[in-house]
Amino acid sequence: APQELQARFDDLIAADERIEPRDWMPEAYRKTLVRQIAQHAHSEIIGMQPEGNWITRAPSLRRKAILLAKVQDEAGHGLYLYAAAETLGVDRADLLDALHTGRQKYSSIFNYPTLTWADIGAIGWLVDGAAIINQIPLQRCSYGPYARAMVRICKEESFHQRQGFELLHDLAHGTPEQHAMAQDALNRWWWPSLMMFGPPDAESAHSAQSMAWRIKRHSNDELRQRFVDISVPQAEALGLTIPDPDLRWNEERGHYDFGVIDWTEFQEVLAGNGPCNRQRVATRVRAHEDGEWVRQAALAYAAKHADQKEV
Ligand code: ACO
Repeated sequence: APQELQARFDDLIAADERIEPRDWMPEAYRKTLVRQIAQHAHSEIIGMQPEGNWITRAPSLRRKAILLAKVQDEAGHGLYLYAAAETLGVDRADLLDALHTGRQKYSSIFNYPTLTWADIGAIGWLVDGAAIINQIPLQRCSYGPYARAMVRICKEESFHQRQGFELLHDLAHGTPEQHAMAQDALNRWWWPSLMMFGPPDAESAHSAQSMAWRIKRHSNDELRQRFVDISVPQAEALGLTIPDPDLRWNEERGHYDFGVIDWTEFQEVLAGNGPCNRQRVATRVRAHEDGEWVRQAALAYAAKHADQKEV
């Protein structure tokens, strides 16, 4: 009976156990997971573009090899996440279609341009750093396949974060021009990185329900504060200045206070009006169309082997 199924689901959540694909789950829980996992997968795939922009211009073979490996990792993360979404009964082709037609979102952060080489360092340090802070708690998400995908993703993200920090450290301790380039990258990426954590708790439509279901373990503002607290000493180690005059240690709270985020900019980016939204989606659609022959070939190959098995 539905009530028994609901009660069993509630018990599993209360006992902090995992929900697996064959377990009964409320339709709204399934929908929320599809929304979040798809958005997460799309972010990994779109996130390859800003960094891919610098592969041919990396300043050394070592840096090029690192960047290539990192961008490939992001593709792999997208694939685990699409596979996790598929355990909820959706089709990857439909998710991609929703991305291409703007019906599903991807992270706001990937709509900003990578203007200089220092941006590759800032993305690793700040963007991947923010992603880790958001994703570590997702390793304990109530939905098993998503939680397990996060374990490997977090390990790889921590390598990405370190390579970004090291790259920026080299620049910040290089020539005055290199130092200025590193500072400029921090100036442009700081505030958009804070926006990655989503709207303030009071305006977060899904947080309360997602926390009750133990999909989310911490609120958007809690994770954003954790990111600020971790980043301040790291910026000091780099010898760079975070572009926020209101940033200061609050002894009473035991946290850094920080300035007001420009939520209008965030809303504009979500509405499709960020600096690179149109370019990102157009590039993705073109890559999908260019890959049509690969999908056709894979289908033909699978059909041929299915025929052979029947004989
Ligand atoms: N960029 C784009 N959209 C966002 C962002 C963002 N930074 N933050 C929130 N939103 C969207 C939400 O998806 C939601 O839109 P929807 O109802 O159309 O789906 C709306 O803004 C309201 O936000 P919330 O109610 O706070 O949404 P939610 O509870 O899903 O929390 C969060 C947002 C924290 C991003 C959550 O979905 C999450 O943890 N996702 C997994 C992590 C992820 O996607 N990371 C991708 C970037 S990191 C990387 O790929 C390297």
